[in-house]
Amino acid sequence: MKTIDKKYVSVHYSKYLQLDKILSAQHLRSVEIGKPAHDEMLFIIVHQVYELWFKQINYELYSIIDDLNVPFVPEEKLLHIVQRQERIIEILKLAVQQIHLLETMTPLDFLEFRNLLLPASGFQSFQFREFEVLLGLREGDRLTYKSDTRYLSEFNPEQQAHLEKLESEGHTLFDAIERWLERTPFLQTESFSFVEHYRKAANAMFDEEIANIRSCETLSPEQKQQRIGMLETTRTYIEQVLDPHHYEQLRQKKIMRLSYKAVIAALFIHLYREEPLLQLPYRLLSRLMDIDELLTLWRYRHAQMVLRMIGRKVGTGGSSGYDYLVQTVQHNQVFADFHNLATMLIPRSQVPPLPNAVKRKLGFHYFNGDDVED
Ligand code: HEM
Repeated sequence: MKTIDKKYVSVHYSKYLQLDKILSAQHLRSVEIGKPAHDEMLFIIVHQVYELWFKQINYELYSIIDDLNVPFVPEEKLLHIVQRQERIIEILKLAVQQIHLLETMTPLDFLEFRNLLLPASGFQSFQFREFEVLLGLREGDRLTYKSDTRYLSEFNPEQQAHLEKLESEGHTLFDAIERWLERTPFLQTESFSFVEHYRKAANAMFDEEIANIRSCETLSPEQKQQRIGMLETTRTYIEQVLDPHHYEQLRQKKIMRLSYKAVIAALFIHLYREEPLLQLPYRLLSRLMDIDELLTLWRYRHAQMVLRMIGRKVGTGGSSGYDYLVQTVQHNQVFADFHNLATMLIPRSQVPPLPNAVKRKLGFHYFNGDDVED
């Protein structure tokens, strides 16, 4: 019988968790200069806990990206990916919640030691930047606080090279999802074109809505005109997304970021999410939006907390502080395309049924419909 090396059998709680290192890593600068500020302990611990959570989030993201970066992603892997996304979501909920804890420190308490932090700043959190880059925030798209300073300049050459490599090699969740979506089968077969199928249904929906407005007795002619005009704008937008040539123009104007193929596949998954083979992909896309939303929420809560703590003073990292932070809330979103997809959705009752041949392929083994391709 194989014997287990004894040193792996018994381990002490403190040693396993290396508590000696973690618990001796809180050095209060206010104490060092002989003017102890009670709340500095909370300030340090909250930041350290954030950094630990960033570590866990990035750990999950690397594994999700690796799992997606293969020619074919099997169902069981998709389930693991969704589970890891859900873990990231729970951590982000905690991250948002934790801001309340920091807010038990009053602005005056913070002022007791704020000057001792110069020029340390959240700008120097490598793991936070790694998190953003891993999600897919590109340097050219991020809001900078000084036009002549790269966000990377806060880090050592090795860290800079790492972040640059992730972006240039497309080792990000956005890129991995895009490539995975582009591989979605069944969108175009000899007898079926999803784009045409959808276009007809969307147009029928708009025609019906316009007819309803025209026949509405309580709206004035001007109101009718205005509402019909708004519907036609949405119809034109959808037409532009469906047309590969126009879609490229939207991408060049940075209105959309995903490739044409990927966005059409995402739409297909949204509309037919109840088909057995699309249920997990749908959950995966929805969890992506949750992650984006929670990070956006964190940015907003952090900005509000900063306003409360230091008002409109400049940040220790040299930015305008609150004004800069509040602008990042919308600007630094990564998965906006997926949120925009909602513009293209049509009511469930108007989603046209899929041809049986496609439905059968999406239905595992228990499809009961007619086997004849139509
Ligand atoms: C009293 C509490 C806090 C204050 C007053 C504060 C203030 C600021 C300010 C003013 C900035 C803008 C950059 C600058 O000029 O320094 C900033 C950025 C940042 N802070 Fe905080 N912060 C606080 C707590 C935290 C906590 C707990 C975290 C958690 C890790 C954090 C993470 C960050 C990050 C990641 C950035 C960069 C954001 C970006 O560029 O999008 N901050 N903070």
